[in-house]
Amino acid sequence: LNNGLGMTPPMGWNSWNHFGCNIDEKMIRETADALVSTGLSKLGYEYVNIDDCWAEISRDDKGNLVPKNSTFPSGIKPLADYVHGKGLKLGIYSDAGYFTCSKKMPGSLGHEEQDAKTFASWGIDYLKYDNCNNDGSKPTVRYPIMTRALMKAGRPIFFSLCEWGDMHPAEWGAPVGNSWRTTNDISDNWESMISRADQNEVYAEYARPGGWNDPDMLEVGNGGMTKDEYIVHFSLWAVSKAPLLLGCDIRNMTKETLDIITNKEVIAVNQDPYGFQAKKVRMEGDQEIWAATLSGYRIAVVLLNRGPVRYSATARWDDIGLDPKTVVEARDLWEHKTPSTQFVGNLTVTLGPHSCKLYVLKPIA
Ligand code: DGJ
Repeated sequence: LNNGLGMTPPMGWNSWNHFGCNIDEKMIRETADALVSTGLSKLGYEYVNIDDCWAEISRDDKGNLVPKNSTFPSGIKPLADYVHGKGLKLGIYSDAGYFTCSKKMPGSLGHEEQDAKTFASWGIDYLKYDNCNNDGSKPTVRYPIMTRALMKAGRPIFFSLCEWGDMHPAEWGAPVGNSWRTTNDISDNWESMISRADQNEVYAEYARPGGWNDPDMLEVGNGGMTKDEYIVHFSLWAVSKAPLLLGCDIRNMTKETLDIITNKEVIAVNQDPYGFQAKKVRMEGDQEIWAATLSGYRIAVVLLNRGPVRYSATARWDDIGLDPKTVVEARDLWEHKTPSTQFVGNLTVTLGPHSCKLYVLKPIA
């Protein structure tokens, strides 16, 4: 969407994966505090996104959405001011239907202009727009109504389409939103995570600055996967130019979680100005090679072992668009090392079960 936002994939946090409907203003403020105190905000994590369940079930007598008094007694505007005071941005959630998915609050269908104005008046910076309980009309009809409403609400608001991929939003999302979900909901396990990466990869050519494929939010830190699996999760989201929206309780994180989500070199791949999404360039049994062109004549390559046993994987220059005679310097983004050996023609690594390596390759001769 041409609103000047999302020139690189959005980064931040969202309440849903960890908290579901169990949210309140205190927890949101503490999360904003934690984004700053952990150093995450300095790395680019800027959006604090409230998901479903923040509003009362009924609108007020003028038809306005009302923050839930029992959990957001101060209202949303003071929360936005608080978050902005920390140099962060506040996101909110609504639905292109009559009720949101939780059925615990109203949707915006038929109230698009009014709600867009409300969000802008509160100082909202990001809107996630879900697809539950709608009137059965096409998302290609319902979503652009909110796009137009946001475009005249008087405030730049990142627009995240949450249509779950059923109607191939990659094919129509670019003029409508800044990102579009390509999958239904992720859960905190390997199969769920890897299958969402697969479904999202199919649409790689549609990603571009201002409009991103969204394989759903991160589960890193929620406890359902091994460290290696979470590294695969974060690596694939990074090279896929997916939104990096943390989904754990960032007030209470292990060092292992923090180490993964604060890997600057991996974040830099995600935020590369070109915005090319990685594609699978080779699939052989449980071995996969994913590659994406980066700025500066570099290439990001993930060597992935999807299987349960140790495996060796090879990235071949032929597969990633390099002349086989090209001499390459390879930076290992998880080891933070550049091996002194230079590589010609291919690079082979050994991978444990459900693990990956992420390299940035730089041709030097
Ligand atoms: C469905 C979405 O896909 C989820 O990410 C979350 O927003 C829930 N709805 C909330 O009800």
